[in-house]
Amino acid sequence: MKGPLILSIDTSCDETSVAVTKGRRVLSHIEYSQVLIHKKWGGVVPSLAKRAHEDKIEWTIKETLKRVKLSVDDLSSFDAIAVTVGPGLAIALEVGIRYAKKLAQRYGVKIIAVNHLEGHIYSAFVQNSKGNPQRKFEFPYLALIVSGGHTEFVVLRNHLKYERLSTTLDDAAGEALDKAAKMLGLGYPGGPVLERLSNMVDNDDRHKLPRPLTRNRTLDFSFSGLKTSFLYMLKKKTQEDIVKNINFLASSFQEAVFDTLTIKLQWAMETTKIKRLVIGGGVSSNMYLRKKIRNLVRRSKGGKVLFPSFKYLCMDNAAMIGVVGSYKYRDGDFVEDISSLDRKPRLDL
Ligand code: KG4
Ligand code: ZN
Repeated sequence: MKGPLILSIDTSCDETSVAVTKGRRVLSHIEYSQVLIHKKWGGVVPSLAKRAHEDKIEWTIKETLKRVKLSVDDLSSFDAIAVTVGPGLAIALEVGIRYAKKLAQRYGVKIIAVNHLEGHIYSAFVQNSKGNPQRKFEFPYLALIVSGGHTEFVVLRNHLKYERLSTTLDDAAGEALDKAAKMLGLGYPGGPVLERLSNMVDNDDRHKLPRPLTRNRTLDFSFSGLKTSFLYMLKKKTQEDIVKNINFLASSFQEAVFDTLTIKLQWAMETTKIKRLVIGGGVSSNMYLRKKIRNLVRRSKGGKVLFPSFKYLCMDNAAMIGVVGSYKYRDGDFVEDISSLDRKPRLDL
C-alpha cells in the first residue's frame, strides 16, 4: 500500500469524525453524529456542538485506532496528523485543532492543515481499504460543492490547485432544504426527508417555485429568496392544505433547488469548457440530484461525473481530510510552528 499513514480529524460542524488513511485508502473511520442532540432545536447549536466534540473526541480517536489494532501510543509511527482548520463553526473546529496539536506534540508527528472544502472536492477519490474505486485523476475537474454551508463551483487544475468560480451569496443549498423542511414541520436535517417525500410523488413540480439567479449567467448561488417565496406560498394555505399536499410541496421546493443547481452546472461546463465533474457535500448523496446531473452530463458529449462512492463520504467526514492530507504530505506542506496553528482556512475556497 502506497502513501503516508495519517490520522485525520474533522470537527467542523456536528460530526466528531476521525479516520486512519494510507494514501487514498481509508483503513478505519468513525463519524460520531450529534444529530440527535441538535434535532430538537431544528439546527446545529454551536455551544452544544462544542461540548459534544469535547466529550467524544478522545473516545473517537481511540476507537478509530482500535479498529485497525492500534493504540494512541502507535501515533509516533504515523507520518502525520491532518486536521480541518476551517471553514466551519469556530468553537467546534477549535476542539479538533487543539486535540491534533496535543497529539502531534506528544508523539512528535507533523501536522497538516486542511480546508474542509478541499475535503469535499477530494471525497470522490477516496478509496476503501481494498483500493476501490480505482478512479485515476484526469485533470482538470469542475467541482460542485453542495453542502449545508456551501454551494460553489471550483476548478481543480491539478492536485491542490484550485480556482474558485463562484460562491453562495446567502443560504447554501443544503441549508435551504433544511429550512424548507422546518417550515413544513419535518424535522432536521431536512434534505433526506425532502428526498423521501419527493420520491413518493415522482418528483412532481406542480408548485413551480422560482429558480434564483438564473436570468443572467452568473455562477453564484442565492437560495434565501426562494425560501421567502416558499414561506409566502405556505402562508396562503391552511394547515390542512399543507398536510394534504406535503409531498408535492416538498418535491416542488427540492426541484427548484436542484433545477437551479443543474442550470448553473451546465453554464459552468460551457464557461470553463470542462466536462469532467466531481460533486461533493451532503446534498450530493441525493439520488434524484445525481440522476439529474448524470442526465446533463450524458447530453454533453464526452462528459463524465464522479460522486463520492460511499454515502458517508458525502457528509462531513475525516476520511476526505486524510486523503487531502496525503497530497499535502507529498508536497511537504506541513504546519511549521504547531503552536501557531489556528482555525484559519489556508485557501480561499
Ligand atoms: O456536507 P454536510 O454533511 O455538512 C456541511 O458541510 O454542511 O452537509 C449537510 C447538508 C444538510 O443540509 C443536509 O440536509 C444535506 O446535506 N443532505 C441532503 C441529503 N442528505 C444530507 N440533502 C438532500 N438530500 C439528501 N439525501
Ligand atoms: Zn461539509
